[in-house]
Amino acid sequence: SETGCLSIVVLGASGDLAKKKTFPALFNLYRQGSVKAEDVSEFLQLMKYTSGSYDTEEGFRLLDKQISEHEEAKSSADGSCRRLFYLALPPSVYPVVCKMIKLCCMNKSDLGGWTRIVVEKPFGKDLESAEKLSSQIGELFGEHQIYRIDHYLGKEMVQNLLVLRFANRLFVPLWNRDNIDNVQIVFREDFGIEGRGGYFDEYGIIRDIVQNHLLQVLCLVAMEKPVSLDSEHIRDEKVKVLQSVEPIKDEEVVLGQYHGYRDDSKVPDHSNTPTFASIILRIHNERWEGVPFILKAGKALSSKKADIRVQFKDVPGDIFNCEKQGRNEFVMRLQPSEAMYMKLAVKQPGLEMSTVQSELDLSYKQRYHGVTIPDAYERLLLDTIHGDQQHFVRRDELKAAWDIFTPLLHRIDIGELKPISYQQGSRGPAEADELLLRAGYIRTHGYRWIPPAL
Ligand code: BG6
Repeated sequence: SETGCLSIVVLGASGDLAKKKTFPALFNLYRQGSVKAEDVSEFLQLMKYTSGSYDTEEGFRLLDKQISEHEEAKSSADGSCRRLFYLALPPSVYPVVCKMIKLCCMNKSDLGGWTRIVVEKPFGKDLESAEKLSSQIGELFGEHQIYRIDHYLGKEMVQNLLVLRFANRLFVPLWNRDNIDNVQIVFREDFGIEGRGGYFDEYGIIRDIVQNHLLQVLCLVAMEKPVSLDSEHIRDEKVKVLQSVEPIKDEEVVLGQYHGYRDDSKVPDHSNTPTFASIILRIHNERWEGVPFILKAGKALSSKKADIRVQFKDVPGDIFNCEKQGRNEFVMRLQPSEAMYMKLAVKQPGLEMSTVQSELDLSYKQRYHGVTIPDAYERLLLDTIHGDQQHFVRRDELKAAWDIFTPLLHRIDIGELKPISYQQGSRGPAEADELLLRAGYIRTHGYRWIPPAL
């Protein structure tokens, strides 16, 4: 039921995630839904705080009592009750907290409604631990009640991928190995781990960014057209792509660790944890055989941005010597400043008959004046309330994702593969650029995309 009383319970309300993401997103949603409530104090009046421990029934009974009181006070015409539990907690306590919710806090209304659980990564550290966590939670809640957040799926340009690919005749016939030479999905941050050393050193860049955020983007770039926009149909296609990924080869991996990383008080002096990774994935299917997908992520680099770069093959029988300048490239800038542009060759304006690299450009700020792009967390929270699981990770998807990276991660964990040191504020190890060239990427010379002035 989409009506009836709604209770949103943020567990871990005093933590970092709640402070940085969950509460601001809730406040924004609240503000958009009501006309005069611009005021934080009105929002705060809607909140109740209960403290208790994660593993005893007492606190959860109290919580249940508070939710029930709220439900009685608000009891709507149809009397149904919706209970959303957002676990802004470390994953180690997910099983016990889920057990307590199941024991004490389920929606009890006879008139319908639901109970849903929202969880965040890290979902385990490898295939085995992730599967264990999945089955512990799976014994308590059905898959339709579990919302695994990957906040990249809430980003505007990531959500745009499906529309671009499947609603444009322009792309449909080109999106395959016959026309596309290579694909890059790149995440860069211009700061280091900044006080998250304890968490980060245990996980590293592959578990933090690549195995989830970048791989989810890869799925949407590479998957076949779903039967419909139904969330199960979409996730079926994502799983298929993941299952078609070949084992990663050592020579197609470059790992890095920025100089100074080990100075963090929570990082051991001999840490082998990568803060940078460039990894080629190869998809063994009819559409993508032979096309490298280069996933690259790094901390403490020269810039902060994330983009998808689809590079097309050279024109056969070229008469302009175009390949000397560069290739067609379709670029989607996920952040900052959402944009997409197509690099192409045009005649150099003027009397001469020569070619120059230019672009067809769609920059959002310029094209959509005054439109605010909502934060990923706002959309995803709204989806959980509406019961739409399209932008959440299904259990089999998670398993397939861990399948791809677990062998590599284990070898890094035991020190068999070592990161190369790189300078903070650089492009990362030079070896990563060499890998990119070996994968067939051709840099455009003398061309820079200049975001249009507003
Ligand atoms: C998080 C990672 O999932 O994503 C962080 O744990 C990272 O390390 C963050 O900084 C990046 O998110 P965004 O939305 O700023 O690109």
